[in-house]
Amino acid sequence: MAMLSQRQVLRFLVPRFATCVSRTTISTIPRNLTRIHSLTHSRKRFCSSVCRDQKETVMVYFIQEDGSKLPGKARVGDNLLDVVVENDLDIDGFGACEGTLACSTCHLIFKKKDYDNLPEAPTDEELDMLDLAYGLTEESRLGCQVIVTKDMEGLEVRVPQGIADAREPS
Ligand code: FES
Repeated sequence: MAMLSQRQVLRFLVPRFATCVSRTTISTIPRNLTRIHSLTHSRKRFCSSVCRDQKETVMVYFIQEDGSKLPGKARVGDNLLDVVVENDLDIDGFGACEGTLACSTCHLIFKKKDYDNLPEAPTDEELDMLDLAYGLTEESRLGCQVIVTKDMEGLEVRVPQGIADAREPS
């Protein structure tokens, strides 16, 4: 795929960005434009409202240590970190590195059958980061690396009691 110049990227993104962040103040836009530019070279995270409405959604549930269940409306194609962020779920310290595979704070534990049914196996990079996660199990994954699929309706994932941020010195 041909690389776009920064000007082309910004010309393409600014109208869409304005739709997506309509509640933010103008003063936050320059800071966020830099982030958007970097995202265009990775995975698309922003889309227009038309695109958003057309996406299929499923319900997933995040089970906390005290047994409480946090429901999240998940768009197919998003990852589980996106679901936590977009549903504004109150999970302490979750997703500290914003999905850049640098922290392991998005550690989630699946039921065995759900883990076995995940469409993609963890990459070596994810496994390396999982090794640093708090409370690692055989059915652990990093939420930022698990993509939501249509057959995840009703999925329940456990949130470990503690977090280990791999970026912080021990
Ligand atoms: S959010 Fe940091 S590794 Fe997933």
